[in-house]
Amino acid sequence: MEQYDVLVVGSGGAGQRAALEAARRDGLRVALITKIFPTRSATAMAQGGVNAALNNVAKEDSTEVHTFDTVKGSDYLGDQDAIEFFCQRCPEGVLEMDFMGTPFSRTDEGKIAQRNFGGQSYPRTCYSADKTGHVILHTTYEQCLKEGVHFLQEWYLLDIVVKDGKAGGAIIWNMKKGKVEIIKAKSIVLSTGGAGRVFWTRTTNPFLSTGDGMAVAFRAGVGLKDMEMIQFHPTGLGKTGILMSEAVRGEGGYLLNNKGERFMKDYAPSKMELAPRDVVAKAIETEIAEGRGWGTGLDAYVVADVRHLPKEVILEKLHGIRDLATTFEHADPLVQPIPIRPTCHYSMGGIDVKDFKTCGTVIPGLFAAGEASCVSIHGANRLGGNSLADAVVFGKVAGEGAVAYVKENQAKDASKALNEAANGWEQRFREVTGRTSGRPISEIRNEMALSMWNNVGIFREEKKMEEELETLNRLIEEYKTCYVGDTNRTFNMAFVNYVEVGSLLTVAKAVTLDALRRKKSRGSHL
Ligand code: FUM
Repeated sequence: MEQYDVLVVGSGGAGQRAALEAARRDGLRVALITKIFPTRSATAMAQGGVNAALNNVAKEDSTEVHTFDTVKGSDYLGDQDAIEFFCQRCPEGVLEMDFMGTPFSRTDEGKIAQRNFGGQSYPRTCYSADKTGHVILHTTYEQCLKEGVHFLQEWYLLDIVVKDGKAGGAIIWNMKKGKVEIIKAKSIVLSTGGAGRVFWTRTTNPFLSTGDGMAVAFRAGVGLKDMEMIQFHPTGLGKTGILMSEAVRGEGGYLLNNKGERFMKDYAPSKMELAPRDVVAKAIETEIAEGRGWGTGLDAYVVADVRHLPKEVILEKLHGIRDLATTFEHADPLVQPIPIRPTCHYSMGGIDVKDFKTCGTVIPGLFAAGEASCVSIHGANRLGGNSLADAVVFGKVAGEGAVAYVKENQAKDASKALNEAANGWEQRFREVTGRTSGRPISEIRNEMALSMWNNVGIFREEKKMEEELETLNRLIEEYKTCYVGDTNRTFNMAFVNYVEVGSLLTVAKAVTLDALRRKKSRGSHL
């Protein structure tokens, strides 16, 4: 049985920043578990930038204006005190990353470069070409190694155990050994990312974004908040949903319909392509629905056009998206418009954080940060660039919160409860993988994804959402007897996928229930 003071689950920007903060405090044992290699986390796919009112490009910008833009962008559903706290900490958060060695793009004066992003009053989004998340993640990883964070990779969270109302430890599936492991921990930070794979292929998220932390926290007794608020990024590649950064529009790209019109003039005449994401996503879907796109069904699209931009802008600032568009859509943005369509990008909702100054939840010793959490600073719609900023700021806050908790509280011995939970999972592994019949787990996942896209996607109607609830309840029943089909222990990815689909079904049901209960259109909930 491993034993730590602080256990961080998830190796994205928030998790690594939390682990780093905790490890910098003398004498604490800090572990970070992750189901993948740490630098492959979803944060590595965040392209366009990280918001902070550094005033490097626009002298008029300030943390107050950043606060106002974020409150307004959230459609007034974000927690305004939390937003103010967040925006005041963004400059420090970004400068800390800079001093740790993050290779940001630079202005001519050598300051961190900042670009325009949707819904923002000034160019505030600090960037490293179109690979900002990638460089932030690599920098935090190097720093975590330097500070002695103990990485347990290809370890997958199954459950957390609560003893006498407090966090006591976690049950883990060791993917390499094919073995249930127990970790005793005085405090736990859940930073497991989002759940975009509810929509399976129509998402910018990697395959690992399966809402595990949300489902685990929910089973342990923590509420999930604002789950209906799912952000559809306006510009996912047509066929695959892969992210075409908002930097495309931030650098001056146009969105065009099949008449060659910049249709945003009809939806947001002053901000045009730089309106907030929910506004742009709805505009694109309306154009497609009214026949002004190309293609049909799920393959329909409009285009993003950057051909009028100077070639150097594309080659220097958008080379990542050029590569992706050319590889996956056979469209080189230098010479062709890029087929795009909205794609699930971000869960504004998540694990209910009770105290934004510590990232604590209702369970003492349990903290949550990043996309897995709902603080709530994003409300009904997150501004582009506020996600990496959220990871950097609240990752650090959660690390500090966990350390303060460990110093002030005596740990309960949760060994008995941990052993019981581990035995339960061992039996479940044998039972589930030993089945010889049942509905294949991939079929359950695919039906969930397609029906969620059709019934609880960008446009929502009560009748369809009610149908979805029935579908999900049936799928949850089928899941109980599903066919997994692999009895091996080492690297049994079928078993991992089985647990992941269980998490996705929990999240999908929470999304649908919340969507049904919110009767008014608000931000991303239409
Ligand atoms: O469009 C983008 O580059 C994504 C950024 C974000 O979601 O913050």
